[in-house]
Amino acid sequence: MTTTTGVAAATGAVGSAHTRVEGRDKVTGAARYSGEVPFAGLTHGWLVLSTVARGRILSVEAGPVLAMPGVLTVLHHGNAPHVETDYLGMLGRPNPIVGLFQHDRVPFAGWPVALVVAETSEQAREAAEALVVQYDGEPHDVAFHSGRSDAYTPQDTPMVRAETEKGNLEAQLGSSAVVVDAEYTTPEEHHNPLEPHAATARWDGGRLDVIDSNQGSSWVASELAQLFSLAPASVRVRSEHVGGAFGSKGLSPHQVAAVMATTVLRRPVRVVLTRRQMFSLIGYRSPTAQRIRLGADADGRLRAFDHQAHSLTSSVHEFVESSAVLGRVMYDADAHHTLHRIVRLDVPTPTWMRAPGEAPGSFALESALDELAEKCGIDPIALRVRNEPETGPVSGLPFSSRNLLACFEEGARRFGWADRDPRPGLRREGRWLLGTGTAAATYPSGVGPSTAAVTAEADGTFTVRINAADIGTGARTAMVLVAADALEVGPDRVRVRIADSDLGPAMIAGGSTGTRSWAWAVTLAAKELRERLSPGGGIPPEGITARSNTAGAIGALTEQERHSFGAQFAEVAVDVDTGEVRVRRLLGIYAAGTIVNPLTARSQFIGGMTWGLSMALHEEAIRDLASGGHVGADLAGYHFASNADVPLIEADWVEDPVPGDPVGIKGIGEIGIVGVAAAIANAVWHATGVRHRELPIRPDRVLRAADEARRRATGGARSA
Ligand code: MOS
Repeated sequence: MTTTTGVAAATGAVGSAHTRVEGRDKVTGAARYSGEVPFAGLTHGWLVLSTVARGRILSVEAGPVLAMPGVLTVLHHGNAPHVETDYLGMLGRPNPIVGLFQHDRVPFAGWPVALVVAETSEQAREAAEALVVQYDGEPHDVAFHSGRSDAYTPQDTPMVRAETEKGNLEAQLGSSAVVVDAEYTTPEEHHNPLEPHAATARWDGGRLDVIDSNQGSSWVASELAQLFSLAPASVRVRSEHVGGAFGSKGLSPHQVAAVMATTVLRRPVRVVLTRRQMFSLIGYRSPTAQRIRLGADADGRLRAFDHQAHSLTSSVHEFVESSAVLGRVMYDADAHHTLHRIVRLDVPTPTWMRAPGEAPGSFALESALDELAEKCGIDPIALRVRNEPETGPVSGLPFSSRNLLACFEEGARRFGWADRDPRPGLRREGRWLLGTGTAAATYPSGVGPSTAAVTAEADGTFTVRINAADIGTGARTAMVLVAADALEVGPDRVRVRIADSDLGPAMIAGGSTGTRSWAWAVTLAAKELRERLSPGGGIPPEGITARSNTAGAIGALTEQERHSFGAQFAEVAVDVDTGEVRVRRLLGIYAAGTIVNPLTARSQFIGGMTWGLSMALHEEAIRDLASGGHVGADLAGYHFASNADVPLIEADWVEDPVPGDPVGIKGIGEIGIVGVAAAIANAVWHATGVRHRELPIRPDRVLRAADEARRRATGGARSA
């Protein structure tokens, strides 16, 4: 069912399964990650993090540590190089960590207060652990909940519009036959990719050269240039292999600290974060508390739609988890309101984490839709069919393509939805209660300006240069397939170079925009090259190169609602005596434009769905109110799904041509996680008759809910 529109062409590489071109290097260990690249004279930096959650640094007692074996320097706010603190980076305002070593304030537990640099990593670590830092601690506040009086509505940014409003909400709610009004909560969650953040920085012939693990080396290079007041051309960032990122790998303290230290020492400096440090330094998903109010006619048609999403941010940067954006795409109503509210706490700054906004937002919204279906007595899929909008509910713009209902149709057929008895608590198998649930998914299909170069080599091969980032997704391989089709040659004649800021600016691997953005630039350059190659003409030794830049074409795009869509299905088994929830089946069907490489695309979808399962049942970072830090900040304490938790997961897609679109690719990185937690929660309701509006659905919560349900049933029997 793979679609081949847009960039796909005669040779058919796009749409055919292809293993990763760098796969052999990765499994044999030949692929080097950023913490492994050797350098002569390499030194090692170890970050020291604050032990108080708020206050001032009184002293950093570097003297004794400098006398320890191998120690070269201790950088801190008292001696670190000055950096520019009021530049506007990609986030449209100073990056969350521009204050690194610039002042004595401690804004949260785990803020970097020093970097110890030594000849070996072990010496640096030992000295870092011995370093005494004195603080003047102040009372801190890390308690997040929706009822805080200091919550405020953030300013609109290019990334997130804070509020949208149309119609008279209260009036429409008042005249609705059926109303759902509920609060849903999701906890603090962490991405923590397997490869820790790591950077090696050095000065090389007057240029700053950084080997890093990130989602966009043009991005990191540009931020470093601005921070250190350097000409953009004198910064080079490379990021050849990346072991996972999920939104966490942009500019972080490790690169900045490494650049400061190499500037002071004039030797290469490597800074690698530890797993525990990652819990406070790389961002995470804010907890959310979301109130949803839906008012509908008896047949389920929505009259009133209200989604108010609370999240937190730090005292150093405003980040908004955009959970309320879904309704602006998914469901129309006579009165429609979406709102974000945030509260500033003494915690690390949250950031993008896979499907930022949509992941927690879909738990709330798609759970509420299920509650509405129950109250109206109609099938959850029929409810979504009834409320399928013609145009963008808030924008009024046409959809570039919207094949959500095709996803539900195909998913329902394959899942066996037609046989489902809608009544909860009826299916039993031994000690297990069984249930099924569904939810919709969507994620924007964005695009960003990119440049590319394609060279016809004298030996008949082609070299593609595009500053893409392959964060484990298979992006490099996708670009081989896209280029092969555009050049009308076999993929074996194409090599792709990525992840080097010297290749020229390109979009980051973020927000599911990478493949769409890079494929566009590569296709344009390849087509231009084909026109310049004369049939039978020779190619000079230096090759023939064509270049592209999509900035103009992107600026000329007509305004449309551009999104991927999907339908998630889950079957669960619940033991109400132990509280155990087992997911037995997951099925996701997506409409996501052209699928470039079915092999890696399926992995992306299944990876996202697995994370959705983990979000539904396991993941939750516990912040200790007393210390302001985490309890169990490691991969043992932060519980997530393991192999034994994950059942058969199927992911597939339907035809999703995008008429008139210059690329036809929509992007698939995020949508796999969207809606999965709701589908599972809805299935738990179907199994037990109990709604879980708080994630994760832990055994103790299942037990407590079952006890309450039992008490209510007994109480009811007595009074009858
Ligand atoms: Mo994605 S959360 O933008 O890496």
